[in-house]
Amino acid sequence: MNEKNILVVGIFVVDLSFKAKKLPSPGETIIGENYIIGPGGKGSNQAVAISRAGGKVSLIARIGDDHFADIGLNLYQKENVNTEGLIIAKGENTGSAAISVDKNGMNSIIVVPGAASGIDKSVIEEKIDMFNDSSLLLTGYEIPLEVTNHSLNLAKKKGLRTILNPAPYFENDKEVFKLVDYLTPNEHEASSLTKVSVKNIDDARLAGQKICELGVGTSVITLGEKGVLCTRGVDDQDGLYFPSFKIKDEVIDTVGAGDVFNGAFATGISEGMSLEYALEFANKAASLSVRKAGAALSAPYRNQF
Ligand code: RIB
Repeated sequence: MNEKNILVVGIFVVDLSFKAKKLPSPGETIIGENYIIGPGGKGSNQAVAISRAGGKVSLIARIGDDHFADIGLNLYQKENVNTEGLIIAKGENTGSAAISVDKNGMNSIIVVPGAASGIDKSVIEEKIDMFNDSSLLLTGYEIPLEVTNHSLNLAKKKGLRTILNPAPYFENDKEVFKLVDYLTPNEHEASSLTKVSVKNIDDARLAGQKICELGVGTSVITLGEKGVLCTRGVDDQDGLYFPSFKIKDEVIDTVGAGDVFNGAFATGISEGMSLEYALEFANKAASLSVRKAGAALSAPYRNQF
């Protein structure tokens, strides 16, 4: 096992991101201010964030063989992401996401995974050596759930630590949570999972305990501008709370901030940082990322932390 390698199983898509004063309401057309086309997909964003935070990272993902796929391949070469786990599906289209961003940097997203949705358990089996070569798995819910669950099972069998970012939220088999060392929902995902409406830190304390009751080792609920609440097991009533890291610059774009948090947190844990320090490290990385537009490319480099 490589003590430091982090394995990400997720998706790559190209984000088409449009900035306007406000998000359009259903049936409404509005005139925007600018748009960017850039790399996205939660797993891919996390992999780039890991590498920029100083981690060693490999990505298992399925892309098409089109111009959008080239955006991913160029990104990984530049950002030092190991691509042994990439499947290039001949004749298929790489996925894309339509993103609206308002003047406060808030967003709404439709993601169409495209070729990424064709990943199945056989791909994970084909790439089994990458599990042998890693010490930590980071995965989420943009890939089919059976692939997420299979990856978590395999990771645990092979002694890897596991981080599950349950985004976007889906109902999953509750047994799966016993395979999760760190669960990192945002407030919406934590609310859906626990049925506690998470609006403040006390709600997050309650939700965090319910998450641990499912068998998760440590719950890390991200609360956007309110910070992060971490619950270290069922008996941890108070949890560890970190307010969001204050930055001088204005918030430009929150797209991908959660991915940057997850990537930096995985890096910290894999480096052997204490839980407290890894949370602060991730909190700071996520806060720095909202100063820049875009998803993957908004992740800070380690020397900017
Ligand atoms: O978390 C942000 C990401 O979610 C975007 O890059 C978009 O592609 C969607 O996957």
